[in-house]
Amino acid sequence: MQHTKQKHAFEPKIIAFVCTWCTYAGADLAGTSRMQYPANVRVVKFPCTGRIDPVFILKAFQQGADGVLVSGCHPGDCHYMAGNFHARRRFAAFRKLLEFIGVDLKRLQFSWVSAAEAGKWVEVVTELTERVRALGPMQEFKALALEEQWSGKLDTAELQEAYEAI
Ligand code: FES
Repeated sequence: MQHTKQKHAFEPKIIAFVCTWCTYAGADLAGTSRMQYPANVRVVKFPCTGRIDPVFILKAFQQGADGVLVSGCHPGDCHYMAGNFHARRRFAAFRKLLEFIGVDLKRLQFSWVSAAEAGKWVEVVTELTERVRALGPMQEFKALALEEQWSGKLDTAELQEAYEAI
């Protein structure tokens, strides 16, 4: 019985888009230092946060992420000079769009984590995972994704039934 309960407990899926020079190295340091943090996070690395297109975040949510983290070098430390400044400006505008389409902004976090900040990486990931766990599964895009996937293949009653099962 205990086993069945554990099987159905909600475990949030967190996608972390990180820059390879700072945050990825910080996450790596946390691992090699044997620091403990939730295993819910899947890391996708980029050369710089300036390369992280907001569409990647939308796609992550659309394809089942419950939370998204974007993290890179601190201001002034970007290895491509101003990539993180561009990213910060882009995401400030993008957050408004996400809010407009109904995404709870508590599901998205933007943080600076350097290569030496393994402890901060652990803190950020743990805090985001717990926050998203409290919010529950991300539902906003699941209906849309389902409609896209099944468009033309299901009649309205079947689609309605599928929505209700989400
Ligand atoms: Fe890390 Fe640009 S190289 S944010």
